[in-house]
Amino acid sequence: MADLIEVESLSKRFGAIVAVDDVSFSVARGVVMGFLGPNGAGKSTTMRVITGYLPPTSGTARVLGKDIQRSPVEVKRSIGFLPEGAPLYGDMTVMAFLEFIARIRDVHGVRRQQRIQYSIERMGLEQVLYQRIETLSKGFKRRVGFAQAILHDPDVLILDEPTDGLDPNQKHHVRELIRELGKNKAIIISTHILEEVDAVCDRAVIIDRGRVVMNGTPSELHAKSRRYNSVVVRVKADVAPKAAKLLRGLPHVTAVESSAPVNGSVPLVVVPRDGRFIADEVGIAVRQNGIEVDEMHTQVVHLDEVFRQLTVGQEKPLR
Ligand SMILES: Nc1ncnc2c1ncn2[C@@H]1O[C@H](COP(=O)(O)OP(=O)(O)OP(=O)(O)O)[C@@H](O)[C@H]1O
Ligand SMILES: [Mg+2]
Repeated sequence: MADLIEVESLSKRFGAIVAVDDVSFSVARGVVMGFLGPNGAGKSTTMRVITGYLPPTSGTARVLGKDIQRSPVEVKRSIGFLPEGAPLYGDMTVMAFLEFIARIRDVHGVRRQQRIQYSIERMGLEQVLYQRIETLSKGFKRRVGFAQAILHDPDVLILDEPTDGLDPNQKHHVRELIRELGKNKAIIISTHILEEVDAVCDRAVIIDRGRVVMNGTPSELHAKSRRYNSVVVRVKADVAPKAAKLLRGLPHVTAVESSAPVNGSVPLVVVPRDGRFIADEVGIAVRQNGIEVDEMHTQVVHLDEVFRQLTVGQEKPLR
């Protein structure tokens, strides 16, 4: 069977602004896709088009094989959507809102009570059930939005910054829930939190100024870092130049970067060619040349660095 979500050459313009520019990707059942990009990159716009809230300017998307423009009702039925910001209908209580959603989602009878109860429990809404939505804290508004998105147990979930505004416990809880639901649904989450990609996503798509700049697995994303598989070797300041020269000469090393000494010891970052694994090679070289090493470890690559590498340079910094 085809992937549950298929986005094909999708573009969306608002007058002169090209918000989404020829974007294609697909998401299979059982996959959680992280959708990343700087502010204004086009993530929310793409999500609104897939969910049928905005028509595309060109290109298309299919959800469970149905075209979003030709079969908008079926498409909407199979999607749960958590939009940016707070749920509408702020004057409703949480309970009234969920009952209303169940009604418009055609969830009836016993199943209706079960699904409402499930959503309340999963999102920890028990204590706010009879409070008006507009009086809730930001995090609880997000939780109500999430409850609404999963209520009808859709095959596809489109979640626009699902953990935005949540406290650390709730973030953890929501990530676990996404992982669990992701086992038999197709899920897209947009996020600015890059650890979230490692924590919950099977794939990542990065867009910048409306265009896809990367589409791969989280480990492929890590491997994009220039410092991927780099080895940090800390040596005494007086032997640092000799050690740097030696390491620079190794066949699979492309650069050795040093920084200021800390307590008399200098960290040398040994950068491999093409992300190769060089820890053994580096270890043997320093030992054979009698260089005393204070510490040696493989550098941890932060996805933030990769993200900046792929998307920075086009944007003016904030002042
Ligand atoms: N209704 C609209 N009318 C005009 N321009 C719009 C509209 N909606 C979005 N845009 C523009 O489209 C571009 C993409 O916006 P979008 O909200 O999709 O970005 P985003 O990736 O979700 O950003 P963020 O990380 O800040 O949420 C921006 O330049 C935005 O100003
Ligand atoms: Mg957005």
